[in-house]
Amino acid sequence: METKKEPQQQQQQFPSFANVLKPSAGARLPTAIPGLDPLIQGGLNRGDFILLSGGIGAGKTTFSCQFAYNGATLLGEPAVFASFEEDSLSLKRNMLRFGMDLEALERDGKIKVMDLEILEGQGMGSNMEVLLSALDKIQGKRLVVDSLTAFLTGAKDKFDYRFLMHLIYKTLKREGVTTMMTISRMQNDTQILGIGIEEFVADGIFQLESYVTDSMELRTRFLVRKLRGCDHSRKYHSVAFSHEGIQILPWSSS
Ligand SMILES: Nc1ncnc2c1ncn2[C@@H]1O[C@H](COP(=O)(O)OP(=O)(O)OP(=O)(O)O)[C@@H](O)[C@H]1O
Ligand SMILES: [Mg+2]
Repeated sequence: METKKEPQQQQQQFPSFANVLKPSAGARLPTAIPGLDPLIQGGLNRGDFILLSGGIGAGKTTFSCQFAYNGATLLGEPAVFASFEEDSLSLKRNMLRFGMDLEALERDGKIKVMDLEILEGQGMGSNMEVLLSALDKIQGKRLVVDSLTAFLTGAKDKFDYRFLMHLIYKTLKREGVTTMMTISRMQNDTQILGIGIEEFVADGIFQLESYVTDSMELRTRFLVRKLRGCDHSRKYHSVAFSHEGIQILPWSSS
């Protein structure tokens, strides 16, 4: 006697192409920075190296800390935050004002905050080793270096800098660590590309820019300058600071 197959069984035997393609199509990892992921087709690729460029006080530390903190708390991706601009105590105090309790997260082993003191007096190669071993200890998936400029001050000349940049890029890519490094840029620096090797090496460049409105108010705007393999937004977006940190919003000039 012929038995009739359940529709569900048939579906399992013959998966649709859409289902087969799903894993790679959904491979992008959310940054979890409010408002950013929809602008970059859902997020980044694992192992992407992102440069976060911005002027003084544009929000580089807050933005990059949200990348580490939200990744660890919301997505189960432990992170190492290497702070060379602020000592770890002031960083923790400042970020707590945005609701990011780095101290508590560190106790849970989900984040490791490191500052310049730890790396002082050591060569660049061992600096990299210290970061890699910190990532290893917490099985870190994200790394923030704030800032790359300070991190690479040890480079002797531009050839050394170039070599180190490639080394850092290749090592982190091999380890599958998604990385964000901040870089300070002066205002109205129209020649951002071409100044340093880092812009060419990076998979993506995010820009935070301060500007003054017609009503004489200091505001910040955001632009995805480049992101390899991504049909990203090419528009300026408004940036809002609140007690919850930074949020990327649709552009508004008023
Ligand atoms: N609690 C807060 N609420 C709203 N905005 C704040 C708050 N705390 C700081 N800000 C804003 O954030 C800016 C500093 O952000 P952040 O430290 O992330 O910038 P940065 O680009 O890293 O600065 P720097 O060039 O000093 O490294 C301040 O200048 C201020 O405008
Ligand atoms: Mg900063």
